[in-house]
Amino acid sequence: MKIFLIGFMGAGKSSLGRYAARHNDLVFLDLDEYIEKQQGRSIREIFSGEGEPAFREMEREALREVIALEGDWLVSSGGGTPCYFDNMEQMNAHGTTLYLDLSSARLTDRLRNSKGKRPLIAGLKGDLQTFVHHKLLERAAFYSQAQLIVPEEFANKRDMKEIVAQIKAGTKLTF
Ligand code: S3P
Repeated sequence: MKIFLIGFMGAGKSSLGRYAARHNDLVFLDLDEYIEKQQGRSIREIFSGEGEPAFREMEREALREVIALEGDWLVSSGGGTPCYFDNMEQMNAHGTTLYLDLSSARLTDRLRNSKGKRPLIAGLKGDLQTFVHHKLLERAAFYSQAQLIVPEEFANKRDMKEIVAQIKAGTKLTF
């Protein structure tokens, strides 16, 4: 089985995913880290060297490879993964997709201190909250295709551990 954690940059996909996987006997995989290992350089270096379209191709290919893995996995995707090619359809077809639905205000707060490693916002000239707000609107059509939309108040370690346990047990969840 596979669970895909999706959501905007700064939503907590990696930290919550890692924690929920560890407590539910799932192998954790961070798609950005997978790409970085494969390419031998950081996402930032890929963006500045080859540009975003090349990164999106790598991301698509990495997702295909991860989908083909055997076993029980919790995969945290990149913030943009669901929004390119048929990636969202693929994740929905091969696993359970969970969207961490944080507000643009909360995301902005969380992103303020980690702009450097994120190429989409690293060199941002304008206001961060305006950027996050618009990008989130642009991406909403993709994120909303997730099978389970996790409201902000449940996007914490304790609840995510429980949500993943329920999914593993085959329970149909709604919020
Ligand atoms: C991106 C999010 C990043 C990374 C890349 C592009 C995006 O992942 O894949 O910088 O388009 O939102 P995180 O969401 O893990 O920061």
